[in-house]
Amino acid sequence: MKFISLFLTGLIVSISARALPSRFDDIRKSGVLHAATEGAFPPFNYFRGKDLGGFEIELTNEIGKRMGLKVDWKTYAFDSLLIGLGQHRYDIVAASHAVTPERALAVDFANPHYCTGGVILSRVGGPQTIKDLGSKVVAVGVGTSYAQFLAKQTNVEVKTYPKDLDGIQALLAKKVDALMTDKFVVLELKKEGKLPGLQYSDIVEQEKIAIAVHKGEPALLAALNKGLEKVLADGTYTKLSEKYFGEDIRCK
Ligand code: ARG
Repeated sequence: MKFISLFLTGLIVSISARALPSRFDDIRKSGVLHAATEGAFPPFNYFRGKDLGGFEIELTNEIGKRMGLKVDWKTYAFDSLLIGLGQHRYDIVAASHAVTPERALAVDFANPHYCTGGVILSRVGGPQTIKDLGSKVVAVGVGTSYAQFLAKQTNVEVKTYPKDLDGIQALLAKKVDALMTDKFVVLELKKEGKLPGLQYSDIVEQEKIAIAVHKGEPALLAALNKGLEKVLADGTYTKLSEKYFGEDIRCK
């Protein structure tokens, strides 16, 4: 009896495995890769007027091209992006997500498309190291790796804002003592003269940033990695990276 039921289970598993076409087959047939991002994290993903652009938008479009696909973008609040991926509302998320062990339980990550880190932004004279933070009040974007890092590694009071950059207004208004966000986001703000009276630290937390894919889509993941490999090798990556950052920010 046990043997028969084991046999039947095996049969059902193998039939359903065969009956389930890979999601990547459907994507290839449609020619469109449905991608989600936030659109409020310059210079990685952001709106210039009505146009969505930025380093990782352009990079993902290039990766899509190498896969023979057109990338169709939709934007959502940052903290809902991986949830929507879990519900199959789109195929990939490219929104500067750091690869973390917690996230890797819920989604699969492609190979990283850049390496960076979190920095501390504060008013001149304010905290610049983890130690300086003590039990101060620190602003972060809701659902970010910085929120998790601070909760795990420090005793600070974390204040979350819908967007990473909303925290800057809070910092200028002295509602918080510091803000933690991406190094290149801060460098971009500085370039635009948007950090009056503010200072920033060196990287206090290293991150590898990658595109997220629904779990159990090995064909899609492999195709993304292949596409990334091609743009890294053929000069496209360097050109884009130089355009946005004046340097090549691939993981070394
Ligand atoms: N790298 C950080 C994280 O993994 C911040 C990402 C924020 N991205 C965005 N589109 N707002 O959480």
